[in-house]
Amino acid sequence: MRLGLLLAIWVATGSGCSWDNCNPISSDSNVLNIHLVCHSHDDLGWLKTVDQYYESEVQFIYDTVLQEVEKDPTRKFSFAETGFFMRWVESRNASMLQRWQKLVQSGQVEAIGGGWVQNDEAAAHYVDIIDQMTLGYEHLKSLFGECGAPQAAWQIDPFGHSREFANLVAQMNMTSLWFARIHYLDSQQRHTQKNIEFNWVGNDEQRNTILTGVFYAHLYTPPEGFCFDSSCNDEELTDANIARRALRFVEEMRLRAPHYKTNNLLLTMGSDFQYQKADKWYRNLDKLIAYFNANPSFGLNLQYSTPACYANALRSANPILQAKQDDFFPYASDTHSFWTGYFTSRPAFKGMIRQASSYLNLGKQLSAHFNLNQDAALETAKRASGLVQHHDGVSGTAKQVVTYDYQQRLDKGIRQLEILVNDALNKASGVAPPQYTLCLLSNETVCDVSQKTGSYAVSVFNPIGKTVNSYIRIPFFHSIASVADDTGNAIKVQVVPTFSIPPLASSSSAPCELHVPVKLDPAGYRTYFVSGSGLSSSLGEVAYPEKVIHPSEADTVSIENEYVSLQFDANGYLTSVLNKTSGIKRNLRQEFLYYESSADPAQSSGAYIFRPAAQTTNPLSTTVINTIVKGTLVQEVRQKISDWAYQTIRLYGGQPQIDKPIGKEIITRYTTDINNNNFFYTDSSGRQVLKRTWDFYPQFQYADTEPISGNYYPVTNRIYMKDQTNQLTVLTDRAQGGTVKNGALELMLHRRCFHDDHFGVNEALDEPGKDGKGLVVRGQHWLLLDDPSIAASTHRQLAVNLFHRPIPVYATVDDPVSYRKTFKTRFAGLKQDLPANINLLSLEKRGNEILLRLEHIFQANEDGTLSQPVTLDFSNLFAGFSIKSVQELLLGANKNTTGTSTSVTLKAQEIRTFSLKITPSSNF
Ligand SMILES: *[C@@H]1O[C@H](CO)[C@@H](O)[C@H](O)[C@H]1NC(C)=O
Ligand SMILES: *[C@@H]1O[C@H](CO)[C@@H](O)[C@H](O)[C@H]1NC(C)=O
Ligand SMILES: *[C@@H]1O[C@H](CO)[C@@H](O)[C@H](O)[C@H]1NC(C)=O
Ligand SMILES: *[C@@H]1O[C@H](CO)[C@@H](O)[C@H](O)[C@H]1NC(C)=O
Ligand SMILES: *[C@@H]1O[C@H](CO)[C@@H](O)[C@H](O)[C@H]1NC(C)=O
Repeated sequence: MRLGLLLAIWVATGSGCSWDNCNPISSDSNVLNIHLVCHSHDDLGWLKTVDQYYESEVQFIYDTVLQEVEKDPTRKFSFAETGFFMRWVESRNASMLQRWQKLVQSGQVEAIGGGWVQNDEAAAHYVDIIDQMTLGYEHLKSLFGECGAPQAAWQIDPFGHSREFANLVAQMNMTSLWFARIHYLDSQQRHTQKNIEFNWVGNDEQRNTILTGVFYAHLYTPPEGFCFDSSCNDEELTDANIARRALRFVEEMRLRAPHYKTNNLLLTMGSDFQYQKADKWYRNLDKLIAYFNANPSFGLNLQYSTPACYANALRSANPILQAKQDDFFPYASDTHSFWTGYFTSRPAFKGMIRQASSYLNLGKQLSAHFNLNQDAALETAKRASGLVQHHDGVSGTAKQVVTYDYQQRLDKGIRQLEILVNDALNKASGVAPPQYTLCLLSNETVCDVSQKTGSYAVSVFNPIGKTVNSYIRIPFFHSIASVADDTGNAIKVQVVPTFSIPPLASSSSAPCELHVPVKLDPAGYRTYFVSGSGLSSSLGEVAYPEKVIHPSEADTVSIENEYVSLQFDANGYLTSVLNKTSGIKRNLRQEFLYYESSADPAQSSGAYIFRPAAQTTNPLSTTVINTIVKGTLVQEVRQKISDWAYQTIRLYGGQPQIDKPIGKEIITRYTTDINNNNFFYTDSSGRQVLKRTWDFYPQFQYADTEPISGNYYPVTNRIYMKDQTNQLTVLTDRAQGGTVKNGALELMLHRRCFHDDHFGVNEALDEPGKDGKGLVVRGQHWLLLDDPSIAASTHRQLAVNLFHRPIPVYATVDDPVSYRKTFKTRFAGLKQDLPANINLLSLEKRGNEILLRLEHIFQANEDGTLSQPVTLDFSNLFAGFSIKSVQELLLGANKNTTGTSTSVTLKAQEIRTFSLKITPSSNF
């Protein structure tokens, strides 16, 4: 990687960015301005890995486009995937880059989209979207200055579009948003009603609006017969055929024109991995343009254009645009092709992506608190997390080998945190600590350090800008534990035998788990000292033995903490929840079921599509075998639902939520007596919440062709339903698909489909797992059953907590007393807790400055108090540095705004971004 190099060689030629140098359009309303937008859609991984695509296809696109565009100043090209572009820059010499820079600065080449990838919009979390856009922008800005700040958001391939994405790019001051795929009925209606171009209102609070365009016939390809790529067989234009071919072109444009808002028509001249031999494209387009220039009587003004030039032309015609308030989910390409399966496809990978993101955000914070010089480690982690946000990445729609490649890259990204943590602990104490490592397989009760030694330190990091009281679970290889906190005081912990799940059992799995309550300072860490004794095999010594409850005696089963108690019925199912404060008992039944995947060759269920063979579910089993663990810190009911489905329902002391790890198209369904009246709510990219209605779409007629799948929505992190008195909220630790019908809320957890669904991946979604019998996935739901008036006050913060759970790192420490004398065992990055409604969204060292983002996590009207604006002065907030000056930035961190104050008032849903000049603290 050649980082930092690029800034040095940027030379501004200053002749004007693409949007200031558009080819002239005709203002004659009888003339059609045909905007030919030359582009190539390059997936960073799908059927081939990102490397294979680059080596075998993408590098030639940049090489040959460069040559061809240089030949004629009217030619233009728009490029979108910054991840691939950087790969090209880093593998070519300085003069190639300078030639490309010249084209960008003279306005012939336009950067569009700008993100590292073109991210998915259903499964990608807003933190990751902001991060991957910021990463792309940062590189574009350092290469191209002002002309590297894209104006057009370009999401031409993602399978549905989230309102929060529109909201975010509007706040990055993008001035238009373009895509292809929308529901086929929506598309039909928009074409008929001349609404393929409209204003999308990104949220209800700031009403960030962005001009949005859907491509004609919801395709990003050229008009039929006019594909001049080296991969296309359409007849090339010659002097002999041009008159005939031009007539055909005119016919097609006249057919299209009535569906556009103005006399400007956008034509996407390109497609997947096109322009590898760019000369053929430009040669033919030159000819077509020249012909119409020479024959103005056709009334077509053809020109090379770009998305931003097209948007300028559209705006200058001043059309009346419809306002769009809702989003573009679910996406259906046909009556039985609902793209709702990918909301859940590859759940283990989706979970790993969320974990990587939380680790990356901690790493960034450490770089800021401790003034670390770890740009290379951070860049590796950012690129890995950015890459997998691709719309064939986190969506789970890449081939299996490509998914393995993504996971390897992500694993490397995650491991960068070890470098940052060790460096941070070194800086905190002024002396290098014993080597700390992450136990990445704690979720499978595997951990090297705790296995090899009986005495170790666990430093637990809290990336949240508030004090956190939580628990960590340590894979434990002994039966008796003594644990001391950072000052050496013993703390009460609980050892429980591991819930043994046969498909996950391995020789390195710990026989026990150690539950340790942790109290962590805002954006800080604390070191705990664990010492284990007793043989792991002598489970008799375990402090709180488990008890197997046979179904016959199961009517007595219940577990509780200080807030709630949970009751289970004679068949082992969860049936009710008692609020111990109010004394009110609610019905809450939870079951595991599955839909049988359709194998209909006309449209089967697969990586993209969820199409059940029947609209009814089948139970995984009728009886659940429960085992209970009753301790004073933690109580669990461990359920064996079938040979391959297990779950633990867990209540921790002091924690209001029910913590519920979960381990065909498997769903879990929570049935309540909530009268939800056909309404339910799902998040949009993990942030704002949208109201959904069963069997109803706000802007076009619902057609009942896929009754279940047509009511599935992406659940990036939360779904809820409510009536006057009750709200059931489920927070998820990864993206899933879900719906609600008649008081029953269901979430799809896992999918195994044996047929391809015919959208290109050409592979069944059948993840083999370690033993080839199917991939085992372990995830969590957090359940909240609240009064609707207070529900947001809980789920808003808990969603942040679930994303950023405490992160433990482990080191062998034989002598805790001397460790405590030598090393700093407690640190708070913030001098006080942030207000309840503010979240520390980003904190990161960038060069010599600190990037800070603060966000108001509530929506307007969600909570009487917490939805109100809140003012914060952050001048004396950070322990690691003092602030010399503040420059406020746009959300994408690539442009200054006018703000320079440390005092900020955040309104509901607002995010504010700052660059800080600082002086690092000399000691902590
Ligand atoms: C840069 O690379 C190009 C393409 O390989 C080559 O033609 C050119 O000579 C190189 N320029 C320099 C200055 O090395
Ligand atoms: C445990 O976490 C690792 C790392 O994120 C992941 O690869 C693995 O799939 C997870 N295991 C299960 C059973 O979910
Ligand atoms: C239980 O009821 C009390 C009193 O109405 C309420 O404040 C609390 O939020 C409820 N707790 C849960 C977990 O529903
Ligand atoms: C943005 O603000 C910073 C700090 O005030 C300043 O150094 C920089 O030149 C500004 N950039 C632009 C493009 O105005
Ligand atoms: C962002 O867009 C708004 C609205 O068009 C404009 O007022 C503002 O100047 C822009 N900010 C920057 C930094 O470009």
